[in-house]
Amino acid sequence: MSPRTAQTSAPILDTLSNRWSPRAFDASHEFPENALRGIFEAARWAPSANNVQPWHFIVARRGSEGFAKITDALVGFNQAWAGSASALIVAVAEIADEEGNERPWAHYDLGQAVAHLSIQAQSEGFYVHQMGGFDPAALKEAFGLGDNQVAVTVSSLGTLADSVDHLPEMLQERETAPRERRPLDEIVTVAA
Ligand SMILES: Cc1cc2nc3c(=O)[nH]c(=O)nc-3n(C[C@H](O)[C@H](O)[C@H](O)COP(=O)(O)O)c2cc1C
Repeated sequence: MSPRTAQTSAPILDTLSNRWSPRAFDASHEFPENALRGIFEAARWAPSANNVQPWHFIVARRGSEGFAKITDALVGFNQAWAGSASALIVAVAEIADEEGNERPWAHYDLGQAVAHLSIQAQSEGFYVHQMGGFDPAALKEAFGLGDNQVAVTVSSLGTLADSVDHLPEMLQERETAPRERRPLDEIVTVAA
C-alpha cells in the first residue's frame, strides 16, 4: 500500500483508493500507443445525458509540438511540473448542438468521461492529474476549437518518478502530504 493510498471509512475498489494526483512524473517514460487507446476507450463508454457524448479529447505526447502548445497555455504553477508527464490531454466539452441548442449537462458528462479515463489509467499503472489552471482561450486558438467547444481541463498522464527531488520545494511537500477528504456524514444526507 502506498503512503498516498486513501484511508477509507468503508471498503472501496483498490483502483479508486490508489488513485491520486501526482506532480512528480517520470520524464523518461514514453506512453505505449495501445494503452493510450484503452484509456480513451474507457472515456468513450462513460454515461451521458441522452447519450449525447458531448466530449472531445486532444492528446499530445511529450516532445511533440502539440505538447508544447498545451504546456504554453498552463499557468506557471502547473508549468513547473506538468512538462514531465508522458502526455497531456485537453478535455473539451461540446456545450451546444449543431442548431445552437444548449447542452446543460455537457460539463457534467465530460467530467464523468475524465473520471472513467483516470480510473482506467490507474488500473493499468498510470497516473492522471487534472488541471483547471490554464488559459482556455489560448487552447481554443491553438487547436482551432469551434464555437460550441470549451476546453474544461488539461490532464497530465504518465508514471511516477523515482523521487520528488526535482520539484520546487513547496510542491515536494504537497507530493508527500497526507491526503484529506470531508467526512462521509458531512457529504451524505440519509433522507428519512
Ligand atoms: C477540475 C480540477 C481542476 C484541478 N486543477 C488543478 C490545477 O490547476 N493544478 C493542480 O496542481 N491540481 C489541480 N487539480 C488537482 C486537485 O488539486 C486534486 O485532485 C485534489 O487536491 C485531490 O487530490 P487527489 O486527486 O490526489 O486525491 C484539479 C483537479 C480537478 C478535478
